[in-house]
Amino acid sequence: MQVFIEKDYSAMSEKAAQIFANEIKQKPDLVLGLATGSTPIGTYKELIRMHKEEGLDFSKVVSFNLDEYYGLAPDNPQSYNYFMFENLFNHINIKKENVHIPNGLVSDVETYCKQYDEEIEKYGGIDVQLLGIGVNGHIGFNEPAEELILGTHLTDLTEDTIKANSRFFDSPEQVPTKAITLGIGSIMKAKKILLLASGKNKAEVMAKILNRDVVTTKIPASLLKLHPDTTIIMDEEAASLSSNK
Ligand code: F6R
Repeated sequence: MQVFIEKDYSAMSEKAAQIFANEIKQKPDLVLGLATGSTPIGTYKELIRMHKEEGLDFSKVVSFNLDEYYGLAPDNPQSYNYFMFENLFNHINIKKENVHIPNGLVSDVETYCKQYDEEIEKYGGIDVQLLGIGVNGHIGFNEPAEELILGTHLTDLTEDTIKANSRFFDSPEQVPTKAITLGIGSIMKAKKILLLASGKNKAEVMAKILNRDVVTTKIPASLLKLHPDTTIIMDEEAASLSSNK
C-alpha cells in the first residue's frame, strides 16, 4: 500500500487527478470506478481543467459509479446521478452511453445488482477505483458490520452515515435510508484503488486503519490493505493522527 500525504485538499486533489490523467493517457478506454461526496469534487474540477486546457480525452473512457441512494430518481438534485453530471460528466467529453450509475428506482433490485456487476465484468473490470471514506470507515456504502457482502447490493445506511450526509439535505429525515452500492468484493476486484481522505473529521478513522497492522469488517476500508495496488492520498489534517504512515 502506498500512502501520500499532501499539504491540503487542493494538493490532494491535484495528485489524484494526475494519477487518473496518466492512466487515461496510457489506456484511453480506461474503466473508471467513481465516487460522489465532498472528497472527489476537487479531483473532478482538476480533471475538467485538464480536459479543457490540456485536451485530456475522455471519449473512450467508461465509468461505473459506486453507489446511489435507493428511492431517488436520477434527475433528483440530491441523487448521485445528478451530482456526477453536475460535477464531472457535463464538463468533459465522456459519452453518455459509457456512463453507468446505479438506478435508485429499480424494483427488482436483486437482479439489477447482479447485472451491474456483470456489466462491469463485460468491460474487463474496473481499472482504477476512486474512493472516499466515511467517518465510520465505510467505502461505497459498505457499512461497518460483522459480515460484508461481496457483490453489488441494496443496503441500509447507518445512523452515522445518515447524520454525516444530512449536510446535503434540509434535514436528516430527508436522507434516504437505503442505497445500492458496489459490494466489498466488487471494489476489491478493481485493478487499482485510490482512496482519498481530507479534513480533521477523517483523522480518527485513518489512524485506526494505518496505526495498526490489522484488518476488520468493522472498518471496511481497512480491508483495502489486502489489495495488491491500493494508494491512499490524504491531506495533512486527515493524516494528523496517523503514526504508521
Ligand atoms: C460516495 C461514497 C461514500 C463517500 C463517503 C465520504 O459515493 O461512496 O462512501 O465516499 O461517505 O463522503 P465525503 O467525501 O462527503 O466525506
